[in-house]
Amino acid sequence: MTKLYKIAVIPGDGIGPEVIQEGVKVLEKAVELTDVRFDFHYFPWGCEYYLQHGRMMAEDGIEQLRQFDAIYLGAVGFPGVPDHISLWDLLLKIRKEFDQYVNIRPITLLDGAPCPLKNTGKEQVDMLFIRENSEGEYAGAGDWLFKGRDNETVLQTSVFSRKGTERIIRYAFETARKMGQSLTSISKGNALNYSMVFWDQVFAEVASEYPDVPTHSYLVDAASMLMIKQPERFQVVVTSNLFGDILTDLGAALAGGLGLAAGANINPERTHPSMFEPIHGSAPDIAGKGIANPLAAIWSASQMLEFFGYEELAGSVLKAIEQVMVEGAVLTPDMSGKAATSEVGDRVVEVLASMHAAAKAQA
Ligand SMILES: NC(=O)c1ccc[n+]([C@@H]2O[C@H](COP(=O)([O-])OP(=O)(O)OC[C@H]3O[C@@H](n4cnc5c(N)ncnc54)[C@H](O)[C@@H]3O)[C@@H](O)[C@H]2O)c1
Repeated sequence: MTKLYKIAVIPGDGIGPEVIQEGVKVLEKAVELTDVRFDFHYFPWGCEYYLQHGRMMAEDGIEQLRQFDAIYLGAVGFPGVPDHISLWDLLLKIRKEFDQYVNIRPITLLDGAPCPLKNTGKEQVDMLFIRENSEGEYAGAGDWLFKGRDNETVLQTSVFSRKGTERIIRYAFETARKMGQSLTSISKGNALNYSMVFWDQVFAEVASEYPDVPTHSYLVDAASMLMIKQPERFQVVVTSNLFGDILTDLGAALAGGLGLAAGANINPERTHPSMFEPIHGSAPDIAGKGIANPLAAIWSASQMLEFFGYEELAGSVLKAIEQVMVEGAVLTPDMSGKAATSEVGDRVVEVLASMHAAAKAQA
C-alpha cells in the first residue's frame, strides 16, 4: 500500500541547502522506483532567519514540526551568529523536544571511499555508533559564577539519569542482537567517578539480560587509539553524548571524511518525528561555491528510507553511492574530484535508476 510521508525540510545555513537539494533529488527518484510517497515542506530557519527575526526558528516551530513524519536537516551555524545560539536554539532544541535520544552514526568504509589508513577496507571499518543524544555532558546544566571577577568559576554539569542511560544501552543491545554483532561500551569510569561508574554499572546490568550478545568495554582514550590501530574490534558501539560526538568525527575520518558521514536522530517510540542529517556543519569556507560533497546528505536520506521500512531501497542508495565512488569520475574536490555538488547528486540518481532497471530485467 502506498504510504505518504510528510517530511519537514530544514536546509539551514551555508552548504546545508546545497547538499539537501541533492538528498531530496534522490528521495524523489525513490518515489519513482517504489510505492513510497513524500510530501516535502520547506522551513527557512537558520542563521539568516535569526538575523531577521532574532530567533533561529518560528516561535511555534516545534508545534509546526510535530505533525511531520520526519525532519531532514542540512546544517546550522554561520559566522555572525554565535555557535552556541545556532546549535541550542535549533538543532539541540529539536533533538530534545522530540526526545530523539538515539543518535545513529554508521561508520562503514564503503568501496571507493578514501581512508587515511593503509590496506584498510570494509572488513576492518564497519561500525555502528549509537550515541546518547538527550542528556549526559550536553544536558545544558551548569552555572557561571562571579562573572568577570578573580574568582570567576563555571560549572558544566553532566546529567546521567537511570532512565536515560538504561534506554540507550538497551537500544544498543537490541540493535546488536538484531544484527548478530558484538556491542562495545565506551566510557571513562576511572576518572569520571560518578557518571561513568554509573554508566558501566548500568551496562553490566543490561548486559545480563542479553547473554547472547558478546560485549566489550573500553575507556574512551584507549578506544580512540584502537579505532585507528584495530578498527575491526568495533561492531555496534554505545557511548555518551560527548564521547560519541568526538569519536564519530574520528570515525568519519576513517570512513571517507566529513563529506560522507551521516547521522540519524531517532525517537524510537515514534511518538515524535525523527531527524536525519549529514553530521558535517555549514562549511562557511566553501559555501556558495557549489562544490560541497552531497554524499553525507544522501546517505542520511537513505537512513530515512530505512527508518520508514524501505530497507532494500535504502541499501540500493548506499550501493549507488559506493558505485559512484568506485567509478571516481564524478566526485567533489574533497574526494579529489572536479565535479559540482549537483553533478554528484545527478550521478547517484542515474546509478540508482540503472541498478533498479537491471534488477527488474533480471526478475
Ligand atoms: N549539525 C550541524 O548543523 C553542525 C555540525 C557541526 C558544525 N556546525 C556549525 O557549522 C559551522 C562550521 O563549523 P566547522 O567549520 O567546525 O565544521 P564543518 O563541518 O562545517 O567544516 C569542517 C571542514 O570540513 C569541510 N566540509 C564539511 N562538510 C563538507 C562537505 N559536505 N563537503 C566538502 N567539505 C566539507 C569544510 O569545508 C571545512 O573545511 C559552525 O557554525 C558550526 O557550529 C553545525
